[in-house]
Amino acid sequence: MRHDRRHALASLGALALTPWLPAHAQARERPVTPPLAEGPFYPRAFPADRDADLTRVAGQPGRAAGTPLEFSGRLLDTRGRPLAGRAIEIWHCDEFGQYHHVGAPGGSGDAAFQGWGEATADGEGRFAFLTIKPPPYPGRTPHIHFTVRDGRRRVLTSQAFFEGERANERDFLYRGLGRGAGLLTMRLESAGEGLRGALELVLGG
Ligand SMILES: [Fe+2]
Repeated sequence: MRHDRRHALASLGALALTPWLPAHAQARERPVTPPLAEGPFYPRAFPADRDADLTRVAGQPGRAAGTPLEFSGRLLDTRGRPLAGRAIEIWHCDEFGQYHHVGAPGGSGDAAFQGWGEATADGEGRFAFLTIKPPPYPGRTPHIHFTVRDGRRRVLTSQAFFEGERANERDFLYRGLGRGAGLLTMRLESAGEGLRGALELVLGG
């Protein structure tokens, strides 16, 4: 077989392997946000103050210690459609590395930090929390636990991370995500006296 004919056949083969998709199916499918372990610190008792501002606790003077963080994002399906009305809960440690509301508060934590909060995605799938940027604690890089609920049913439980943290690559859960880590890692920027970061959370079917 002459070289140019062989080349042409090879090109045809490549063409045949390229799937043809109708226009509506070519819309970018968003990758599903990977789940991660809930961990041992999901609340066993919830704070009386159940809102999306974790930096203040009703009846408690002052504000949570630490760097304020506006954590926002959108809940979407794989076609990019907003998942309005889903609840999202977050929980993470305080500025001193202590989790709250796990049933046996040690009393050493920050009483002005709510520890856990809940928001509901609006019509565009948007949610927003005001919290603090959690510090690392032994064995873990900084992270925010979250779970998304559809009614009472939990549909995604995972953890959010921060770009550029030195401890990310030493964190066994972060490393285990491989390329999926990017889907759970937010870039932070300055916002007033604190920081802000956002994540797009994509739920599978
Ligand atoms: Fe944790």
